[in-house]
Amino acid sequence: MYASLKSIGSYIPEKIMTNRDFEKIVETSDEWIVQRTGISERRIAAADQSTSDMGAKAAQKAIQRSGLDKSEIDLVICATLSPDHLCMPSTACLISDKVGIRDVMAFDISAACSGFVYMLMMAKSFIESGAKKNILLVGAEKISSLVDYTDRGTCILFGDGAGAAIISATEDIDEAIIDVHASADGKYSDLLITPGCGSTHPCSTEMMDKKLQYIKMAGNEVFKVAVRTLTKDVVDILKTNNIEPKDVDLFVPHQANLRIIEAVRNKLNFPKEKTVFTVGKYGNTSAASIPMAINDAYEEGRLKKGDLMLLDTFGGGFTWASALLRFGGN
Ligand code: UT7
Repeated sequence: MYASLKSIGSYIPEKIMTNRDFEKIVETSDEWIVQRTGISERRIAAADQSTSDMGAKAAQKAIQRSGLDKSEIDLVICATLSPDHLCMPSTACLISDKVGIRDVMAFDISAACSGFVYMLMMAKSFIESGAKKNILLVGAEKISSLVDYTDRGTCILFGDGAGAAIISATEDIDEAIIDVHASADGKYSDLLITPGCGSTHPCSTEMMDKKLQYIKMAGNEVFKVAVRTLTKDVVDILKTNNIEPKDVDLFVPHQANLRIIEAVRNKLNFPKEKTVFTVGKYGNTSAASIPMAINDAYEEGRLKKGDLMLLDTFGGGFTWASALLRFGGN
């Protein structure tokens, strides 16, 4: 038995925040942001819209495209760094409720931007072991709730949104998830961190005065480790599986910075036409970035059943992951 990505869906919030909007609130310029990141605009969720609201909308689309009835889904996992509630209930429980999936296991994982590919590894294992048959994966983020809009080094990077996929059991190897590599190194934890609101710095006025509830990033150091790690990781997963870059139909990298994507693309000599770029319009949507990008490629008609995709991702922790899979949808 293999695991197959059968369908994809996404939810894109309506409100657009452009680089020009940032020029009005921090010392920056459209030119700097485009040159250093490739980002022109990003989406921001409405004040009354939660991560689970967006996740549920993406999930409904993925379920509808899978042709499954929601009663056939036997596991729901959500990856997010901006859960509706810090401790409980999990965002996966809230999404299940909003979608109408009852009485099945549901939980969140914490792997920052690598969350979606981490979940693919878990879904593959659950299905290949025979424990589950149809799994709903959701990457959803309201990162605007964690961003310090006075910190120009981080606020221009992030956006909100959600992506979802259905992973189902199949006997057809031509639509299978072939391999997933996932790894982490906690020695870099301080370089990309939300220091506050956890057990180290519990919620307090003092903690909030220091703005510890927001994302802090040593951008340039993160950048260097991301490029080094991702270029090695994609080379490794291709080599392990005896697959040449030219055999990959679609390269779907994590959308954090155009320069990181280009470094990996150039290393493997992937043509631009085979690469998905959404960072320019969505910014970095963390765990939602990869499923949102796959969804865009699907809706643009760039993804057909059996196409070989290569995914790569890198995020806080540090965590990183890559995956090789054939699309199982129609
Ligand atoms: O998804 C999780 C993983 N995250 C990432 O992969 C993000 C990785 N990092 C990056 O994408 C980049 O490091 C940034 C886009 C965050 C920054 O680009 P950089 O080329 O690494 O710039 P830098 O941090 O080295 O800063 C260069 C200069 C600094 O000024 P000085 O010290 O040279 O005077 C910054 O203060 O650019 C300044 N700067 C800005 N200037 C205008 C930083 N942010 C801005 C800004 N507008 N928004």
